[in-house]
Amino acid sequence: MGRKLLLEHINVPGINTLAVYREKGGYRAVEKALKTLTPEEIVEEVKKSGLRGRGGAGFPTGMKWSFLAKPEGVPRYLVCNADESEPGTFKDRYLMTHIPHALIEGMIVSSFALGANTSYIYVRGEMMPQIRILERAIEEAKAAGFLGKNILGTGYDLELYVQPGGGAYICGEETALLESLEGKRGNPRIKPPFPAIAGLYGCPTVVNNVESIAAVVPIVNDGGDEYAKIGIGRSTGTKLISASGNLVKPGVYEIELGLPVEEFIYSDEYCGGIANGKRLKATVAGGSSVPVLPANLTLKYANGEPRLMSYESLSEGGFATGTMLGSGGFIAFDEDQCIVRNTWNFSRFYHHESCGQCSPCREGTGWMEKILHKIEHGHGTMEDIDLLWDVQRKIEGNTICPLGDAAAWPVASAIRHFRDEFEWHVKEPMKSQSTNYGLANY
Ligand code: NAI
Ligand code: SF4
Repeated sequence: MGRKLLLEHINVPGINTLAVYREKGGYRAVEKALKTLTPEEIVEEVKKSGLRGRGGAGFPTGMKWSFLAKPEGVPRYLVCNADESEPGTFKDRYLMTHIPHALIEGMIVSSFALGANTSYIYVRGEMMPQIRILERAIEEAKAAGFLGKNILGTGYDLELYVQPGGGAYICGEETALLESLEGKRGNPRIKPPFPAIAGLYGCPTVVNNVESIAAVVPIVNDGGDEYAKIGIGRSTGTKLISASGNLVKPGVYEIELGLPVEEFIYSDEYCGGIANGKRLKATVAGGSSVPVLPANLTLKYANGEPRLMSYESLSEGGFATGTMLGSGGFIAFDEDQCIVRNTWNFSRFYHHESCGQCSPCREGTGWMEKILHKIEHGHGTMEDIDLLWDVQRKIEGNTICPLGDAAAWPVASAIRHFRDEFEWHVKEPMKSQSTNYGLANY
C-alpha cells in the first residue's frame, strides 16, 4: 500500500467536520506553525519538501513562495485556485467535498508563512455544494479560534473568504482568476509581472492549487525532509490522481509519485484494469491539456523501460513519445474509442472556453474544431489533416496564456500517433461512422 498523506482518513465517518478532523490530528499544523515556527522556517520546510504545484504546471511551491515581494506597508495575498475545470480532473473537488478542513488548515498555515492577513479560495461556480461545505468549515474553524483575530492567542489575524467563480474554464488561469476576483472579466494578463510581484489589486500574491495547499499540512507536521523521502527524483511526495474513462474502478487515488503507470492502471489497489475485458488503446495522463499517448508509450518508454507516474518520467521523450503529469487527470481509452471523435470533443471545449483575446487561439481553436468535425463526420480530405496540423502549429507558443498550447497539444499528438485513424476516416467515410478503427490496425 502506498502512503496516504491527504486521503488517509477519507473513509472515517464525519471527517468533514472539525470535531472528527481534530480527533484525527487535524489543526496540529496550525498549532505548530503559529506557536513554534517563523514564516521563514515554514517557507524553508516547503522548499526542502520539493513540493511542486499540483494544479498542473508543477512549479516548485517553495520557490514560488520565496519570489513573493514584500514591500513595506503593502498587503500580501494568498489565493487558492479551486477553479478546477480541466476535463478529466476532479481531485480538488473530491478533497474539498470530503475533507474541507485539510484545505482550510493548509490555507491558515500557508497564509501565515506568506504574511497574508486576507486570503481567498476561488471556487469554480458550478461547485455550489463544495462552496457551501467550505463556508461551513470556515465557520467551524473560526468558532474554534483558528481564524479571525489573534488566532490561538498568537497575535496573527487571518480572514478567509470563499469566492465563487462564474464557471469559465479560463478563470483557472491564475491571472484571469485574479481579474475575476477583482470583479472584472476573466481575461488572462500578460506575464511578467508574475502575481508574486503584482497580483490581486496589484499587490504581491501567491496563487496555489487546492492540493498544493493541503500538502503543506503534512509538510509542516512531519518536516520537509520527510515529505521529500516519498516519491522519486524531483517528483516528491504523493499526488492525487483523478482516474476516468474505460477503467474498472475510476475514482480519485492518492499515489506515491514514481508508481509504475502499469501498476496504476492494472492493480486492484488502484484502477483494477480496463473495463469489460477490453484492451487499452490510449491515455491522457494529465487532463485534456496534455498530449494523448498510445498504450505502448503510456506503459513503457521507447526503450522498453517501465514508465512511471512522475513529472519527469511521463514527459520523457518530449512530445514525440511522452506526455505530462499535468493536473493528474488520467483518462483511459479502450480499444473501442475513436481518437478523432475524442480530439474533436476536446477541440470543441477549447474553442468554447477561449477568452478571445489573442487571434491564434480565438480563430485557431475554431478552425481546429471545424476541421475535426468535418473529418469525424466523413467529409474530410487528406489535405484537411495537413491543414489541421498546420493550424495547431500556428497556435502553440503564440498566445498570451497556456490555453492555446493546451488546445494545440491534444490535436498534434493525435495526428502524430494516430494519423492512420484520421486517414481511415477520410478513406472510409461510411465505415468510420458505424465502426471503430480497431487496435489491430496499430
Ligand atoms: P506556469 O508554468 O506559467 O506557472 C506556474 C506557476 O509558477 C504560476 O503560479 C506562476 O506565477 C509561477 N511562476 C513561474 N515563473 C515564475 C517567476 N519567474 N516568478 C514568479 N512566479 C513564477 O503555468 P500556469 O499558467 O500557472 O499553469 C498551466 C498549467 O495549468 C497547465 O500545465 C495545465 O496542466 C494546468 N491546468 C490545470 C487546470 C485544472 O483544472 N487543474 C485547468 C487548466 C490548466
Ligand atoms: Fe484568451 Fe486563448 Fe489568448 Fe488565453 S490563449 S488569452 S484563452 S485567447
